[in-house]
Amino acid sequence: MPRLGVNIDHVATLRQARGEFYPRLDHAARICLENGCDQITIHLREDRRHIQDQDVFDVKKITDQFNKPLNLEMGCAEDILDIAKEARPSWVCLVPEKREEKTTEGGLNLLDKSQYDKVKKTCDALKSSIDGVKISLFLEANEKINDMAIQMGSSIDAVEVHTGDYAKAYLENNDWNSYLTQFENTYNKLKSKGIHVHAGHGLTFESTGPLVEQALFEEYNIGHWIISQSVFEGLDKVVRQMVSLIKR
Ligand code: PXP
Repeated sequence: MPRLGVNIDHVATLRQARGEFYPRLDHAARICLENGCDQITIHLREDRRHIQDQDVFDVKKITDQFNKPLNLEMGCAEDILDIAKEARPSWVCLVPEKREEKTTEGGLNLLDKSQYDKVKKTCDALKSSIDGVKISLFLEANEKINDMAIQMGSSIDAVEVHTGDYAKAYLENNDWNSYLTQFENTYNKLKSKGIHVHAGHGLTFESTGPLVEQALFEEYNIGHWIISQSVFEGLDKVVRQMVSLIKR
């Protein structure tokens, strides 16, 4: 059964916009978990534009209460690594990070040797300091990059495939079907090597449908659309809708 991780970064975006104590992240995490999501995902960015250091610990308390994973997205910066070691999330998703980007714009470029080495070093540091931590790498569905992920061996547990370009093509009614073939190839290759395959970025209720129908992923991490839609419908209802789509 595929899993839904709700990314609650943009609850923090609203809070940070006014420098208030609301809306509370722990409250958002609780509502998502009470309404059937499988994990909470947050991205502690180097510029702290939404999630703050204390949020990682506050949200971890809630995921622990529900006995569900916290999935911490992060770049390979030393200070973030130190916070991860202290907060001990169940999953870490390593992502590339540029300060000037509006959001994560693509996967890690493992074809670049210095990036590959940095990612590998971060994976090994996480694995040796957090008992049982699982690691995913945020990557494009690209054959050469998949090969580099496979080379990482036991340093990683999963690949989270960047679905942003697919989701944009879907929204704009461009040729989104070709992405499904890439996703299927990636799924088959990685699974044959024992690597789990997750999806994330830019997904909406509509664009998630074809991925679920073709059983292309084991986990979906979805944030911006869920938080945006909850302005109109409420977070509890939107999470329930997404859970029923993913688990139908
Ligand atoms: N997965 C990863 C690795 C991400 O960087 C993000 C955005 O923070 C998401 C999933 C969620 O993307 P969205 O907010 O567009 O649903």
